[in-house]
Amino acid sequence: MIQLNDVRKKFGSTWISKGVTLEIPPGQMTVIIGRSGEGKSVLLKQIIGLIKPTSGQIMVDDIDVTKLTNNELSIIFKKLGYVFQFAALLDSLNVFENISIKLLQDGINKNEALAIAKEKLSLVHLPQNILWKYPSELSGGMRKRVGLARTLTTNPEIILYDEPTTGLDPVTTRVIHELMYDMQQRLKVTSVVISHDIEIFNYADNIALLHEGQIRFFGDAKTIWQSNNPFIYQFIRGLSEGPIQTETPQL
Ligand SMILES: Nc1ncnc2c1ncn2[C@@H]1O[C@H](COP(=O)(O)OP(=O)(O)OP(=O)(O)O)[C@@H](O)[C@H]1O
Ligand SMILES: [Mg+2]
Repeated sequence: MIQLNDVRKKFGSTWISKGVTLEIPPGQMTVIIGRSGEGKSVLLKQIIGLIKPTSGQIMVDDIDVTKLTNNELSIIFKKLGYVFQFAALLDSLNVFENISIKLLQDGINKNEALAIAKEKLSLVHLPQNILWKYPSELSGGMRKRVGLARTLTTNPEIILYDEPTTGLDPVTTRVIHELMYDMQQRLKVTSVVISHDIEIFNYADNIALLHEGQIRFFGDAKTIWQSNNPFIYQFIRGLSEGPIQTETPQL
């Protein structure tokens, strides 16, 4: 269970998070939407402890992440997996080396790491022969799946995805969403997904709308479509049409 209580964050004199309160139910998929620059990635980085809020509390299970020192953060890193916005594979390493990087750091031997890498590759529906390829030889969708396989190596209870389908075509986007949903069902993880892609609504249990530094809507996808709040109405229809409206919001 992840619980944010009145989280506030400023960079210099600019407030980005202005009192975010959010309860993320365990074992479900929660999608965070919001305009570009709204502070979604900052929010995810605060949950994982990479950015410290200026004030407020972030509970992951029974631990207040904001109170942890850099050394203690490893406790959280064991629970949490983070899928980066652009897969973030190291170009000079092959797929096996990319996937097993954390395992080898943890002292797991190469044979065991290979077995784990193969298991995770099959979870993301990739053939084992790509283990010896380099990121430059893979398509964007394959790279995203390799990034996901790498996140799965530590068996996280919580997976945080920062825009997992940005830059992918609609068909590949659906494949990735189905994969995320399938893993959600099979592994019973808690998934937190930042997305600009409306297609994810088909798989999400909860949608949270971040607007002007606060959560302005939390509920299921059906409820958000039925909302007659002018900003929410315009925002989610804007998502399905492409460029996001930035007209004066009326909340
Ligand atoms: N480390 C940092 N130092 C200073 N400012 C930062 C830092 N990280 C983020 N910001 C600022 O915080 C704001 C929110 O950034 P964030 O990356 O969270 O936006 P976002 O909602 O994820 O946008 P996008 O949808 O474009 O990814 C931006 O104005 C950004 O410039
Ligand atoms: Mg972002």
